[in-house]
Amino acid sequence: MQEIKAKIEAATSLDEIEKIRLELFGKKGVITELFAQLKSVSAEQKKEFAKEANQKRDIFSELIGAKKSALEAIAQKEAMKKEAIDVTLFNENVASGALHPVMETMDKIIDYFVSQNFSVESGPLIEDDFHNFEALNLPKYHPARDMQDTFYLNSGELLRTHTSGVQIRTMEKFKTPPVRMIAPGAVFRRDMDLTHTPMFHQVEGLVVEKGANVSFANLKYILEDFLHYMFGDVKVRFRPSFFPFTEPSTEVDISCIFCGGSGCRVCKQTGWLEVLGSGVVDPNVFKAVKWSDVSGYAFGLGVERFAMLLHRIPDLRSLFEGDIRLLEQFK
Ligand code: DAH
Repeated sequence: MQEIKAKIEAATSLDEIEKIRLELFGKKGVITELFAQLKSVSAEQKKEFAKEANQKRDIFSELIGAKKSALEAIAQKEAMKKEAIDVTLFNENVASGALHPVMETMDKIIDYFVSQNFSVESGPLIEDDFHNFEALNLPKYHPARDMQDTFYLNSGELLRTHTSGVQIRTMEKFKTPPVRMIAPGAVFRRDMDLTHTPMFHQVEGLVVEKGANVSFANLKYILEDFLHYMFGDVKVRFRPSFFPFTEPSTEVDISCIFCGGSGCRVCKQTGWLEVLGSGVVDPNVFKAVKWSDVSGYAFGLGVERFAMLLHRIPDLRSLFEGDIRLLEQFK
């Protein structure tokens, strides 16, 4: 019996244990035989013999059970070790995404104006005539409407041609000055060539305060600071222009970032690149929202144009072709 005990202790596999279990408890097993012998034991010895047999059965089944669980635990541990994956292992094949250059540029523009305390507002893409044109001093049949070839819906509404309508919506929402907002978003025009797509993005800006506090000087300061933030060390030029919703109106140019101002194909030999429109808010715009004794400035810019200049993209349409190779360059 000592021998069997040692065998159990020395066992290293569940198979071995099963073999030992059969040696003890199988049909011809040592313990099984013991119980078989019980029949032939004399009456006076029977009690003692049975007691011993029971003890042996209990001891061995306990020893076998204990060893079995110990071996099972080891086997399980080993299986887990085999199946484990190293989650810290670096996988070089994962494809990482990238922001679309238009969105990345938009974010950069938004970051600047948020840092200058502008709120970020939005308006509907399907706009009504009042917000897109009328309230911006663009009455029906005004020739300035022709500058924005337009998608109309049967309802008389239209896909907004610029973000300027959000100026009106924001003043309606705020009800009183001050307003200090930008409105980024998509706009739509019936255009398609190297530098125009039917859908593109603008960022509008509007600042309004009570009284005569806001002047062209404020506009000039913020746009110069903004353009230096976007393009670095460039010259900034304000050129007289016309927009129905501003008076005076100005287009803003930066010195050409391709040739440094000496003249090249991109700037059409002028040394300058037009980057945005702006001006002092026309009194008729305030009249449309019934605000008086206020002053303000506004500006609007095309995000794709900024992205093209920042990343030197020659054809605007490539931004919307969905070619993954374009995005992969920006990882
Ligand atoms: N809405 C004009 C456009 O789409 C851009 C613009 C010009 C916006 C001057 C303004 C502004 O707010 O003052 O061409």
